[in-house]
Amino acid sequence: MLYTNDAYTPHEAEIVEFIKDHHDIFTIRLKFTDPELDSKYSFRPGQFNMIYFYGVGEVAISIVNDRDHQKGRFEHTIQVVGRVTKGMMKLQTGDKVGVRGPFGTSWPMAEAKGKDVVIVTGGLGNAPLVAATEEVLQNRNQYGKLRVIHGIKSQDWLIYQDMYERWHNSPDTKVMMATSAEDPVDNGKWEWKKGFVTAYIPELDIDFANSVVMTVGPEPMMLAVAKEFIKAGAKPDNVFVSLERSMKCAIGHCGHCQLGSQFICKDGAVYPYPACEKLLAVKGL
Ligand SMILES: Cc1cc2nc3c(=O)[nH]c(=O)nc-3n(C[C@H](O)[C@H](O)[C@H](O)COP(=O)(O)OP(=O)(O)OC[C@H]3O[C@@H](n4cnc5c(N)ncnc54)[C@H](O)[C@@H]3O)c2cc1C
Ligand code: FES
Repeated sequence: MLYTNDAYTPHEAEIVEFIKDHHDIFTIRLKFTDPELDSKYSFRPGQFNMIYFYGVGEVAISIVNDRDHQKGRFEHTIQVVGRVTKGMMKLQTGDKVGVRGPFGTSWPMAEAKGKDVVIVTGGLGNAPLVAATEEVLQNRNQYGKLRVIHGIKSQDWLIYQDMYERWHNSPDTKVMMATSAEDPVDNGKWEWKKGFVTAYIPELDIDFANSVVMTVGPEPMMLAVAKEFIKAGAKPDNVFVSLERSMKCAIGHCGHCQLGSQFICKDGAVYPYPACEKLLAVKGL
């Protein structure tokens, strides 16, 4: 964590660019206004920040790589769901927000070296896996095949189009999309399927026994993805999921995010599947 003295104090960051991704999804590119913080700040793929919309409230948001890989810049892609995120939609370039973080566990980038990597996401679950995907691509010869499967309600919900195109055109990398809508599903760039992301799993051209799977999306989706990979031969310990729960302190003090014996903010949000298999199996927990 960047802030050793007071983990509750947000640090001011400036929005250097506000990008509208969809009618209720937006991305803010940030930099700290304090040059020292700006130069010190770093995060690991899968971690999150607490973003304070001044005077309204704080929300947990996953950290996304800067799209231009500019040092000292990082992004958050945010979907409007309630009070804080609705207000944040009105932010503009030049506005300030408070940032605490980074918090939480990260994707197993070291363990994935030498293995095929499969990223499976649904909806805005793609945001927490951008940094992991970029890390594989930046160290391409250290990893095996890279397969990215993303599921959306319909094609007009597809964000990060330029990024997916770049990924798909990278060495030994394939992007596949699934949509549940009845709209035409071939835009010529990637393979599309109608239905669930899991439909792609049995036909993947990877070495399942030597693969690492990272998945974020609705919990029933992650559960189905984990089960399907294990059925296909992936080792349960090599399947990783990320859990989302309402958070306040983000440092294991308030109990807001507690799930059984777990404080998701500090023991997670990224978990190996066997560590949360029983929790994921309980509907509505
Ligand atoms: C580790 C982590 C990473 C996250 N990353 C992102 C991200 O990258 N982008 C993004 O848009 N959102 C992300 N979220 C979710 C985000 O924190 C919530 O959407 C946000 O807190 C909602 O705040 P609000 O005041 O706008 O809505 P509220 O008014 O607080 O809530 C509106 C509705 O959403 C539900 N809700 C609120 N927070 C959560 C949650 N965490 N999980 C499930 N339901 C919730 C509430 O129960 C309520 O029904 C993440 C959450 C966690 C825990
Ligand atoms: S958010 Fe307070 S304990 Fe996790």
